[in-house]
Amino acid sequence: MARLLTEQVTEVHHWTDSLFSFKTTRDQGFRFKNGHFTMIGLEREGKPLLRAYSLVSANYEDELEFFSIKVPDGPLTSELQNIEIGDQLLINSKATGTLVMDNLLPGRNLYLIATGTGLAPFMSIIKDPEIYENFDRIVLTHGCRFIEELAYQEFITEELPQHEYLGEDVREKLVYYPSVTREKFRNNGRLTDLLASGKLPSDVGLDAIDPEHDRFMICGSPSMLKDICTLLDERGFKESRHGKQAHYVIERAFVES
Ligand code: A2P
Repeated sequence: MARLLTEQVTEVHHWTDSLFSFKTTRDQGFRFKNGHFTMIGLEREGKPLLRAYSLVSANYEDELEFFSIKVPDGPLTSELQNIEIGDQLLINSKATGTLVMDNLLPGRNLYLIATGTGLAPFMSIIKDPEIYENFDRIVLTHGCRFIEELAYQEFITEELPQHEYLGEDVREKLVYYPSVTREKFRNNGRLTDLLASGKLPSDVGLDAIDPEHDRFMICGSPSMLKDICTLLDERGFKESRHGKQAHYVIERAFVES
């Protein structure tokens, strides 16, 4: 039975004027798989105001973490962006979602394709030891308009490779590929274009994408999801549906209000 848990905010980090993340305490009974999302929010006028958020934290961590945009007129995020340490947050005890490894056929390379806050579920996934057991290469992409929106860069490139248990696997297998579309950066362009042209795989030292050995998890805006599905379908990749294993899985980056 799903319940609404009340948790306390333990940390808040503002990345830019429009992006922030926060941590909360975790009820011992709250269980999830890495890549899952749940409904979270605030109580307003005696009622819960909830939206779907992917978990940034891994399922073995003591606290829960979430990554959010700030929508100026958004009913939830316009208030949520003002939360402070010690505030109370509502969290639905039932987490779910399609971005889980069990939905993918075995493969060699795992591409994690994220735009904007679509990065969130992949932060959980790159902290999952099983992902490193199951794939030779994990390519974590993050497409943003501007450099300052590339949240969690330092964690991905500096902290995680030094992690006590995961560090060695991360250094050997995880490749981080951020790309920016509206200012000059070391990688420029939309992830869809970089995949279609073959530049992305080639930049990370891999062959052209092929359903034989490549797997994809995708999270971002509806238009990105649509374009990437078309691109993958044209190349013979099949989407996992109803829990049946296939070559790729998709989930919307939910937070839009
Ligand atoms: P662009 O600047 O060319 O629109 P947003 O903030 O709108 O969600 O966008 C986040 C990133 O996703 C931006 O770099 C944006 O590029 C890119 N993007 C938007 N739509 C698509 C799409 N259909 N396919 C691939 N990337 C996209």
